[in-house]
Amino acid sequence: MTDWPYPRWIAHRGAGKLAPENTLAAFRLGASHGYRMFECDVKLSSDGVPFLMHDSTLARTTNSRQQPGPASDIGGEHPWGVLAQLDAGSWHSRAFAGEPLPSLENIARHCLRNGYFLNIEIKPTPGVEHHTGEVVARQAARLWQGAPTPPLLSSFSEDALRGAQAMEPALPRGLLLDTLRPAWLASALDLGCVAVVCNYALWDHSTVTQAHDAGLRALSYTVNDEWAAQRLLALGTDGIITDRVDLFAPQA
Ligand code: G3P
Ligand code: MG
Repeated sequence: MTDWPYPRWIAHRGAGKLAPENTLAAFRLGASHGYRMFECDVKLSSDGVPFLMHDSTLARTTNSRQQPGPASDIGGEHPWGVLAQLDAGSWHSRAFAGEPLPSLENIARHCLRNGYFLNIEIKPTPGVEHHTGEVVARQAARLWQGAPTPPLLSSFSEDALRGAQAMEPALPRGLLLDTLRPAWLASALDLGCVAVVCNYALWDHSTVTQAHDAGLRALSYTVNDEWAAQRLLALGTDGIITDRVDLFAPQA
C-alpha cells in the first residue's frame, strides 16, 4: 500500500467512553464529532458470525446476567441469535438502553453507506485466533468488495493476522503491539503488514524511523491527552486512535 487512504484520526470503539463502546450508537456519536474513521473490536459467535465486542465475556457491556438465556458468560460460546437479543447499551446509561450488539455486517453497511473508514481489530476468543482471523477477513472482503477503501484489519494476535493473511492476503493488516518485543519489525513484515499500531508511548524518533524505513505506517492507541497527541504529530506518525472524540477535532 503506497498511498495511505485512511484519515489520521480514528475514533476508538466508535466514540470512546461517550456512548456504549462498539455499538452503532457510538459510531453515530463519533461521526457527530466529525470522525470518519472508527476502530472496533470483532470476535465470533459460536455459529461463526463476526460481531462487535471487546471483552471475552458478556458481563461488562451487556445485560447477559439479567437474561434467562445464556448460561455461560463467554461471548464466543453463544449463537448470534442469542447475542443479538442482548441489551448492550443500558450498562452505559439509560439514554442508550436497548442498544443491540452489532454484527460486523451491520457496521460494514453503516460505514459503506456513509463513506466511513473502518479499522477492524480482530479480538478473538482465546483458542480460536487463527479461525477468527480467517472468518473476519473472508467476510470483510465480501462486504467491502468493490468499495474504494478496504477496512484495515489489526490484531495483537499473530495467529489471527496469519489467518487473515492466508484467507484474504490483499486486505491491509496492522500488527498491534503493547510492548516493543525484539522482533517487532520482523514480525510485522513477516505478516505482510502495512502498519504497526502501538501503545503510543512506544513511538520515538528511532522507532518511527525504523517503521517508515521498512515501508510501514506508524499508528497509536489510545491517545487521550493533547500533550501525547502533539508529540505523535511532531514525530510524523500516521494515525491516532482516541477515546476523546470530544477533545480532538479530526481535521486538525
Ligand atoms: O485497536 C487499538 C486498541 O483498541 C487496542 O486496545 O484493548 O482498546 O482493544 P483495546
Ligand atoms: Mg480495540
